[in-house]
Amino acid sequence: MIGIILPSAFFSGKRPCLFADFNHYKDLAEQYGTDICFFSLQELKKDSPLVEALVYSPIHKQTEKKTIALPQINLVRNTSYIRDRQIVGKIKILQNKNFYFLNLPLIEQANKLKNCEFLQQFSDVKEHVPATKQLSFAHLNELINLYQKVIIKPLFGSKGRNITTIEKEANKYRIMQTSPGNKHRNAKISAPPKVVSILDTQLKSFYDNNFPRPTSFLVQQWIWLKNDQGLPFDLRAIVQRNGHNKWQLTSRVARVAGEKDRITNISQGGKMVSLSELKLKKKDRAKIRALSLKLAQCFAIIYPWSAEMGFDLALDRQGKLWYLETNFCPEKVRPETIYKIPFAYAYFLLVKQAEK
Ligand SMILES: Nc1ncnc2c1ncn2[C@@H]1O[C@H](COP(=O)(O)OP(=O)(O)OP(=O)(O)O)[C@@H](O)[C@H]1O
Ligand SMILES: [Mg+2]
Repeated sequence: MIGIILPSAFFSGKRPCLFADFNHYKDLAEQYGTDICFFSLQELKKDSPLVEALVYSPIHKQTEKKTIALPQINLVRNTSYIRDRQIVGKIKILQNKNFYFLNLPLIEQANKLKNCEFLQQFSDVKEHVPATKQLSFAHLNELINLYQKVIIKPLFGSKGRNITTIEKEANKYRIMQTSPGNKHRNAKISAPPKVVSILDTQLKSFYDNNFPRPTSFLVQQWIWLKNDQGLPFDLRAIVQRNGHNKWQLTSRVARVAGEKDRITNISQGGKMVSLSELKLKKKDRAKIRALSLKLAQCFAIIYPWSAEMGFDLALDRQGKLWYLETNFCPEKVRPETIYKIPFAYAYFLLVKQAEK
């Protein structure tokens, strides 16, 4: 039996679109000839190996609500990081008892600084990671002096919110800040960034006013992104473990910034573009593939249950490929990548367990 963990909204009927998920998994259960059961993370109990679930048997073609033993292999259909400490605590206890929760994106994995630092130990990867440090006034100065331009990001930021770029010019700094996005958290497009210039003597007061809690930010070398008709772009590559337990590159897209000088997030006015539209060279595509697969192998060491990762990568103007960040719940659009490949990997693990 494979457990499928769905958002609790599925069970309360609040999100009818999630019923499509149910049918996709039912088809896969039939194809593989395995029972499946559905439940939400809220149903898990730390001190009991039992769970109340909706069980589907492809032989009887029936769905039944019952209390069953928690399956050993569970696949999480999740689209956002799990922040609830109680749930995280329960899951850790169960993981220690050898229950698998595939594609479970814990919030601690989203720490951009920790992930950049982790990559430093891999000699063939570290040259692709921009210089990155925890934010402090000393580190800010150090990196600005080395690279002329830096980016300051929240360790747990998303959607390009609350990002500051600082560029050194003759005797001033040009600063751009995206909105923190608290007011319109669900708005698709954030307000345009604020742009200011300050004298170099004003940098300390700017820093003190804007970063009262610097330990929740990182400062990073700015990468001068390659342009498409003057507009900078970066890349999102998704890799997933497949039914043969092999990492596979399953999606690659580019995001072109809405204006020159801007970051590329869609929520900051960027536009999704296919690699063929960009006319990216074969050589560059091969580099993207090779680095993405290597990155997945590295992160699998510390996040062994994460069978999918989305990497933000960027080519600079010299054609060098850089790592920007990892997303452990990357947005996917094709049924193949949303359901089929993760299920095939879960089935691979189920068979392996049965052989033990
Ligand atoms: N070192 C860098 N040099 C140049 N541009 C960068 C750099 N780091 C980030 N950017 C730009 O800023 C954007 C946002 O940065 P990043 O992807 O790290 O955070 P995020 O998009 O807010 O997080 P998430 O992708 O999880 O929503 C990138 O897509 C890229 O356009
Ligand atoms: Mg990003």
